[in-house]
Amino acid sequence: MAANESNMAAIETLKKWIDESDNIVFFGGAGVSTESNIPDFRSTDGLYNQQYAYPPETILSHTFYRRNTKEFYRFYRNKMLYPDAKPNRAHKKLAELEAEGKLKAVITQNIDGLHQKAGSKEVLELHGSVLRNYCEGCGKFYGVDYILKTEGVPKCEDCGAVIKPDVVLYEEGLNGVTMSKAVDYIRKADVLIVGGTSLTVYPAAGFIDYYRGNKLVLINKDETAMDYKADLCIHGKIGEVLGVISTETDISTDIEEDDKTVKTD
Ligand SMILES: NC(=O)c1ccc[n+]([C@@H]2O[C@H](COP(=O)([O-])OP(=O)(O)OC[C@H]3O[C@@H](n4cnc5c(N)ncnc54)[C@H](O)[C@@H]3O)[C@@H](O)[C@H]2O)c1
Ligand SMILES: [Zn+2]
Repeated sequence: MAANESNMAAIETLKKWIDESDNIVFFGGAGVSTESNIPDFRSTDGLYNQQYAYPPETILSHTFYRRNTKEFYRFYRNKMLYPDAKPNRAHKKLAELEAEGKLKAVITQNIDGLHQKAGSKEVLELHGSVLRNYCEGCGKFYGVDYILKTEGVPKCEDCGAVIKPDVVLYEEGLNGVTMSKAVDYIRKADVLIVGGTSLTVYPAAGFIDYYRGNKLVLINKDETAMDYKADLCIHGKIGEVLGVISTETDISTDIEEDDKTVKTD
């Protein structure tokens, strides 16, 4: 979206809050990676609006995985794996803020591993990661390369059992340790930045209710049902918004020519 005055004022406030804090926590969703060309689920060009025999929520469910493992993997390889995706300005900025000692943790619903690729260390992956896969028989680890180079249902080299992605499918529970760590970070956070999530997938969407501070920032290209809860609401692309928060030196070089919708000053 184009920069507008209220957005620019909000971005200035966000800059100030970031400058003043050393206890920022980020909580994000699929929208953080759309600028890395990984589609989200709910945008107009997202996965929900493409034509498949079943909605993604059905295919990515535990029941479907068990009953139609081959079809699950067909969709999964086509639509969930982006081995060439690169971190965008949002991922990079968050990694920078952590390195500067300002950001404590990134809590993500994403499964693409891009925060770690950007250099973030404390990343809580609520929904797991496509980069990790385990044999259901013997537990042997497999990287994403193995999933990509095999066809049909990937099987363990050692025991022949099916390999399952370390991804939390619909109907499956979230990891308790990861959840409680995430809640703890959010509870203690001074600034909570929530970005690129429609805040409709529970239990993760309920996490913002644990925040106790008065600097809740929502960054989303569209309105969300939680906008009213925010102390600061910015409607824009998260890479562009966090991109202009970047240290003065890398702003101009980092914004692509056709992408200068947010002015730097
Ligand atoms: N990259 C990934 O790993 C990936 C991609 C798709 C889906 N998923 C999984 O599907 C679930 C879907 O839930 P969700 O709420 O995270 O995603 P979602 O698809 O429900 O919502 C994404 C939100 O981000 C917004 N958005 C899209 N591009 C944006 C941008 N550049 N800047 C700011 N906002 C932007 C959209 O308006 C939307 O509200 C996730 O929990 C995740 O596990 C993961
Ligand atoms: Zn095995």
